[in-house]
Amino acid sequence: IYGPKRRNSRGVNLNIRSQYQPLMDAMAKHMETTYQAGPLLAFKVDRDPSNTHEVNSPFDRRKTVGTVQWTTKDQTAKALDAAWAAFPRWDDTPVAERAAIVRRFADLMEANLAELMALCSREGGKLLTDGVDEIREAVDFCRYYAMRAEELFAEPTVLPGPTGESNELMLSGKGVFAAISPWNFPVAIFCGQMVAAAVSGNTVLAKPAEQTSIVAHRVIELLHEAGMPRDVVQLLPGDGPTVGSVLTSDPRVTGVVFTGGTDTAQIINRALTARENAPLPTLIAETGGMNALIVDSTALPEQVVADVISSSFQSAGQRCSALRVLYLQEDVADRVIEILDGAMDELRVGDPRDLGTDVGPVIDEEARKGLMAHIETLKKEGRLVAETHLDPAHTSEGTFVAPMAFRIDGIASLEREQFGPVLHIVRYKASEIDKVIESINARGYGLTFGVHSRNESFAEQIARKIRVGNVYINRNIIGAVVGVQPFGGQGLSGTGPKAGGPHYLLRFANEKTITINT
Ligand code: NAD
Ligand code: ALA
Repeated sequence: IYGPKRRNSRGVNLNIRSQYQPLMDAMAKHMETTYQAGPLLAFKVDRDPSNTHEVNSPFDRRKTVGTVQWTTKDQTAKALDAAWAAFPRWDDTPVAERAAIVRRFADLMEANLAELMALCSREGGKLLTDGVDEIREAVDFCRYYAMRAEELFAEPTVLPGPTGESNELMLSGKGVFAAISPWNFPVAIFCGQMVAAAVSGNTVLAKPAEQTSIVAHRVIELLHEAGMPRDVVQLLPGDGPTVGSVLTSDPRVTGVVFTGGTDTAQIINRALTARENAPLPTLIAETGGMNALIVDSTALPEQVVADVISSSFQSAGQRCSALRVLYLQEDVADRVIEILDGAMDELRVGDPRDLGTDVGPVIDEEARKGLMAHIETLKKEGRLVAETHLDPAHTSEGTFVAPMAFRIDGIASLEREQFGPVLHIVRYKASEIDKVIESINARGYGLTFGVHSRNESFAEQIARKIRVGNVYINRNIIGAVVGVQPFGGQGLSGTGPKAGGPHYLLRFANEKTITINT
């Protein structure tokens, strides 16, 4: 067993009043602040109101979180100059020093938990429970990668050789990394990417998602406060195609670590490979999923429903790992659907700052419209199975989508990942199980997958045949834990290596073998 020289952080238990109340009091101080965010670069950037955008809360669009100034193309190019110049110095910095900065940064994030949670909620629409998990995961990524960097980079690996010859394998950084992240884990994934790149000796240009630039700005302030040099990790908020295209077309960018949609990863891949006179790029892409859960007739319906509810609707279904297609064997289908219908009726959709809320808003109006178009099509076809009702008193000012479940014929009928609280249900006969597995594999995604069955050999056989990155048996299929369930997919879901796993840093490193004839 690999590990543990380190423990994951404990976070805060919101069910214990003595932990919950102080956190709420501390968060209250950050609920009304109006933030001004913008690029944090190796050089000073002047304020530019003409390039500044207002950010509003997804749960109430009338509420302002602050403003964000976007990075221009010129500033992006100058930031690249600085990152390029800083690389040799940073790569020569002892790994223990790099790791110490990262650990101080983790401590600072823990110390500023209330503010970061307030921002995750105000800007990203995150529930309190999701906010705790978010910061905890970010802290765990930092400490895990700091530990792995020291294990991998501190000393060369001595290899056996013939008498009179010594052989050593050394790791070093690759160069400049662009770290391009999504809004749905605006602290955890944002930190995981840039910390992995930086602790391995690379300089980093971090491009957060447009929707969550303010929390990213606050996180980078903490990182610089922890001692990270300003030319080693720079923040470039801005729109993807503008800032992203400068980064991905420049031959000095050695690698891109990207998390987001599969289509965007394909655009980035094309841009990187179209560069002339550029080194062959490293692309680490963690992308979308069309995740399935198979339930056979031996499963416990109540447990199935509890796990389906959290897998499909926690974080308003805005997790790449979320359940999209539930396969129910016909003997249990009616019973599971009956319990699911009752459970969905009980869900409360509303303000994420309220501990009683089960499902918060989706990120923005564009996301809401896309989901509603899909929902309307399925409703018109008469496929609705179960739904949660929206109470306008709690949802009329925000971008909310009620959890819904629809009957479909199979995963092949889904054109694209629906990134929200929409579940699709397929009934299957026991004799069709091989076809079901084939169709899931054929769809081409490969992120998470679940089985609910009390027949161990059935569950194990399916787990072996399915081509995905993370398989969960008799539990929900979300919430991978750093250092425990390394996370990431295959096929249309990503390139690997797995985030939070022992091999992740290796993809950020160059390897050099030194042979000496003694
Ligand atoms: P997105 O692809 O729209 O954006 C992700 C990032 O890419 C943003 O920072 C965006 O500005 C940037 N971007 C957009 N166009 C670009 C371009 N042409 N060049 C460079 N950068 C560009 O994704 P999103 O809506 O922010 O996030 C949701 C998606 O992320 C979902 O598909 C979800 O499944 C996926 N996701 C995957 C994982 C995983 O680990 N596999 C984790 C979280 C989210
Ligand atoms: N790592 C996140 C999860 O497992 C996406 O839900």
